[in-house]
Amino acid sequence: MIKSNPQINNLAPYQPGKPIAELARELNLNPDNIIKVASNENPLGCSALVTKAIADNMAEIARYPDGSSYELKRALAEFYQVSDAQIILGNGSNDILDLIARTFLGEGSNAVFSQYAFIVYKLVTIASGAKYIETPAVNYAHDLSTIASAIDENTKVVFLANPNNPTGSWFDHEQFATFIAKISSNVLVVLDEAYIEYVQNDNNVNAISLLNQYSNLIILRTFSKAYGLAGLRVGFALAHPAICDLLNRVRQPFNVNFLAQTAALAALHDQQFVANSANLNQRGMQQLVDGLTKLGFDCLPSKGNFIAVNFADKASSIDLALQQHGIIVRPLAGYNMPNFLRISISTKAENTQLLSALAEIV
Ligand SMILES: Cc1ncc(COP(=O)(O)O)c(C=O)c1O
Repeated sequence: MIKSNPQINNLAPYQPGKPIAELARELNLNPDNIIKVASNENPLGCSALVTKAIADNMAEIARYPDGSSYELKRALAEFYQVSDAQIILGNGSNDILDLIARTFLGEGSNAVFSQYAFIVYKLVTIASGAKYIETPAVNYAHDLSTIASAIDENTKVVFLANPNNPTGSWFDHEQFATFIAKISSNVLVVLDEAYIEYVQNDNNVNAISLLNQYSNLIILRTFSKAYGLAGLRVGFALAHPAICDLLNRVRQPFNVNFLAQTAALAALHDQQFVANSANLNQRGMQQLVDGLTKLGFDCLPSKGNFIAVNFADKASSIDLALQQHGIIVRPLAGYNMPNFLRISISTKAENTQLLSALAEIV
């Protein structure tokens, strides 16, 4: 049997949320009655501009996409007031995480990230042959000063998620500005803002304003969450042109497919849809936190479109019981949080259905 690179033996495959069709098959349920709140998807779907753009452009799919994603990049550059050379696109932001690891990490180097940080940081680091340093979290949140102190002479990359998935924890602009000022310019600071559109307060990290000051900063964004395009796989990053240039050398030629580029371009033009999604999320978060607290469960404070809920030693049995009720949530045992289930915020009706099912179960 052919042997893999040795580090691959230490990898466990990423565990996605269970697809609706899979639960329907397993429990012989009608898929139309299943609620999936396991993958932080947008309960509003996507903008009507997106479905129209896709329908209008279907005839083009026999052609290769524009490998440079010129139009999408132009639109993003305009939207964020940066140059085209400061943007790199990915097949989801996971693709960019992988590109970062393949470009900057490898045997002899390490990446630093927090306990409970988004698990893909660990996966891409191990796959690259690099080591990782996982710093202790405080109340399930990143501790930025511990992360800064953990950096050593072999550290090439620091991964931060703000807000973090699966804990929902976050830090503000001042905390981040203090952090990055301490970091050597030889260490790439990856600021993963997959859920930033859901963060509604005055002291958001405005990292884009720091791009000109720090050539070692890369900010990751995605169309999978607030834009509702998870199935199409489009993410992007903003960074110094030299960083984008290096990542572009490793990037696959057509990593963002034609329909994904078309859809993302349309989605970017519907900021009202993004605002509606964030508002729905805020109301749904309140509804779920109130309901869960009333049922006696602790929720970690979250700025994302999900909450991690502590079900103590009943997490596994509640997960199974919810599945019997046709509700898919996300177990967090893979994050060493076996007492927690992560629940994505959905519509009022689906949130209500989840709370009713839980009340019945407990
Ligand atoms: C913190 C964080 N970063 C990145 C991603 C990757 O998202 P995508 O590859 O869909 O853009 C996710 C997805 O769940 C996430 O939670």
